[in-house]
Amino acid sequence: DTGETKIMVEAHELLKKFYHHLLVNTKEGQEAFDYLQARGWTREIIDQFEIGYAPDSWDFAVKLLSGRGFSLELMEKAGLIIRKENGGGYFDRFRHRIMFPIHNHHGDAVGFSGRLLGEGQPKYLNSPETPIFHKGKILYNFHQARLHIRKHQEAILLEGFADVVSAVQAGIAHSVATMGTALTEEHARILRRNVDTVIICYDGDASGIEATFRAAELLADAGCHVKIATIPDGLDPDEYIKKYGSDRFRRDIIDASSSLMAFKMMYFRKGKNLQNENDKIRYIEEVLQEISKLSNPIEWDYYLRQLADEFSLSLSALQEQLNRHRNNKT
Ligand code: GTP
Ligand code: MN
Ligand code: MN
Ligand code: MN
Ligand code: MN
Repeated sequence: DTGETKIMVEAHELLKKFYHHLLVNTKEGQEAFDYLQARGWTREIIDQFEIGYAPDSWDFAVKLLSGRGFSLELMEKAGLIIRKENGGGYFDRFRHRIMFPIHNHHGDAVGFSGRLLGEGQPKYLNSPETPIFHKGKILYNFHQARLHIRKHQEAILLEGFADVVSAVQAGIAHSVATMGTALTEEHARILRRNVDTVIICYDGDASGIEATFRAAELLADAGCHVKIATIPDGLDPDEYIKKYGSDRFRRDIIDASSSLMAFKMMYFRKGKNLQNENDKIRYIEEVLQEISKLSNPIEWDYYLRQLADEFSLSLSALQEQLNRHRNNKT
C-alpha cells in the first residue's frame, strides 16, 4: 500500500534527523562522535552521509514515533521497533549504535545499519527486509554516486559502508557498496543500466578475494566490463586510506586496477613456485580453464599468446589443450 510505504519513509527521515542531531550536537552523542573522528572522518563527511547515533535507550524511537502520531504497528513493519514477546509494547531495534541511514535510489531513507562503537557481535545490525527495504536491490550511496558514475563512466564497488564513506572522503565519489550481503543479479543489472565499467575493490582478506570472484562473474554475465582493484596485506579500502592516504589509494589501487584475467592469474600464482615443473603445469592448466570460459576469440588469442610467451610454449599445443577444456565443458 503506497500510503503505508510513504509513512514508513517519513518515519525513517524523521529518525535519521534526530540520530544525526544527537551525534553532532549533544553530550549523549559525544562518545560516538569521538569514535568517528578517531576513524578519520570529518564533520563534513559525517554530515554528507547523515551519520547519526541511536542512544542507549529501549524506547527512544518508540516514544519519538508515537509522539509524532506514527502507528507503532506500522513502525514494527518498517523494522524500526520490535514487539515485546509477552504482553504489549515495543522496544527500539537500534540502541547505542552509530547509525548509517540507507537510502533507496531516489534518495529516500528506507533503512539503517547500526554499528557498535567498539568490538563485539553483531558488529553491524541492519534493518530487516520490509516493504521499503530490499537488501538485494539497494546499493549503499547509489543515490549520491549516480551522477559521478555516469560522468566517470565507471563505478567503484566496495564491500562495506565504512569503505564507501572513506573512499568518498578521499575524493572517489562514484563509490557504492552492497548491504553486507553478496552482490545479486539485480544489483548487477542496476549497475549495468548506468555504466559499462565496474571496478571491484573488496577487502584484501580471503573472504574479500572469494567474494570478488563471485561478484565479477555476476557483473560480467550482466554485460559489465569488470576490473579488479586489489588491496595488499589483507587491508580493506578504509584501512588502506587511513594508512597510506587518499592519493596513494587513488593512484596505487584504483588507477592500478587490473583486468579480471590478470587478477585470476595473480591469484593462481599465489603459493606456487613457477620454476617448479608441477606448479607450472598446474598454473597453465588453471589459466587455460579460465581462458576456455571466455566467449571472445580475440581474448583467447591474446591470453594464449601471453601464456605461450611467458612459458616458451608453442601456440598450437596451448590451442589444442584449450580445445580439450572447451569440449569438457558440456
Ligand atoms: P568496519 O569494521 O566498521 O570498518 O566495517 P567493515 O565494512 O570493514 O566490516 P567487514 O569488512 O567486517 O564487513 C563488510 C560488510 O559486511 C560491512 O560493511 C557490513 O555491511 C557487513 N557486516 C559486517 N559485520 C556484520 C555483522 O555483524 N552483521 C551484519 N548483518 N553485517 C555485517
Ligand atoms: Mn566525481
Ligand atoms: Mn571483510
Ligand atoms: Mn572490511
Ligand atoms: Mn573496515
